[in-house]
Amino acid sequence: MSLEGKIAIVTGASSGIGHSFSKKLIENGAKVYGLARNNKKLQAIHDDLGDSFIAVQMDVTRHSDIENWVKNEFNEDKTPHILINNAGLGLFGNVEDISLNDWHTMVNTNLNGVYYLTRQIVPLMKNYDGHTHIVNIASVAGLIGNPQISGYNATKFAVRGFSEALFKELRYDGIKVTCMYPGSIATSFFDNADGVDTHSNMMQPDDVADTLVHILKTPDNFLINEIMLRPLNPKNPDESV
Ligand SMILES: NC(=O)c1ccc[n+]([C@@H]2O[C@H](COP(=O)([O-])OP(=O)(O)OC[C@H]3O[C@@H](n4cnc5c(N)ncnc54)[C@H](OP(=O)(O)O)[C@@H]3O)[C@@H](O)[C@H]2O)c1
Repeated sequence: MSLEGKIAIVTGASSGIGHSFSKKLIENGAKVYGLARNNKKLQAIHDDLGDSFIAVQMDVTRHSDIENWVKNEFNEDKTPHILINNAGLGLFGNVEDISLNDWHTMVNTNLNGVYYLTRQIVPLMKNYDGHTHIVNIASVAGLIGNPQISGYNATKFAVRGFSEALFKELRYDGIKVTCMYPGSIATSFFDNADGVDTHSNMMQPDDVADTLVHILKTPDNFLINEIMLRPLNPKNPDESV
């Protein structure tokens, strides 16, 4: 799909890869509705990217807020062509130490948030006379389990299953569904990652965003339904000696 003049929704647009996705989509001619809770950060991104970035203060865990916003903003004559379900977070610890609150926050954000927005946008996309695209940002943690990240693993494995089912359910409606599994990216994601191994040679958000643009621009009858991205050397070679 050409991105020129297209309408995109990006959740988690206030930082990290959501910020980079918004920037690259706009550079390629799209208009982006950027959703996140921190309005100050969203406004700063609007100041940087201009009026093609529409800041929308939204908590993706609030279904009725999402439903009202979609009903007020979009209709049969104004359909989002692209939905990037990116908002998410990881709260880590041994299984007996993860608080109920942290577990529910991950499930509500990483899984329920994806479902809440998708279920509102799909009817609009089904009515659209052309191709549209949903991209769900899972993680390598949606494919591989590891100690201390069981809750995060559970939500991202779920995003994988949701995406696989949607891909098969929506393909005949001209709706592409892609699930992306990135490894470590240099964002604020790891700021609260006590006890989880991090390193200083992560992927860069803009490089991940270039891959997103490539996936979106593929020809209409060509779908990249799953893609895994990894840093080649997860440790700076200078540090490994
Ligand atoms: N960084 C990595 O290594 C990595 C690897 C694989 C996958 N991922 C995935 O990539 C996605 C983006 O993460 P990132 O690395 O860019 O981290 P980040 O810089 O911490 O960004 C996370 C974004 O999610 C938003 N968010 C969190 N809870 C939200 C909620 N309830 N409602 C709306 N927005 C919410 C945050 O905005 P507000 O705080 O303003 O709401 C922020 O914009 C996540 O799904 C993450 O699981 C990251």
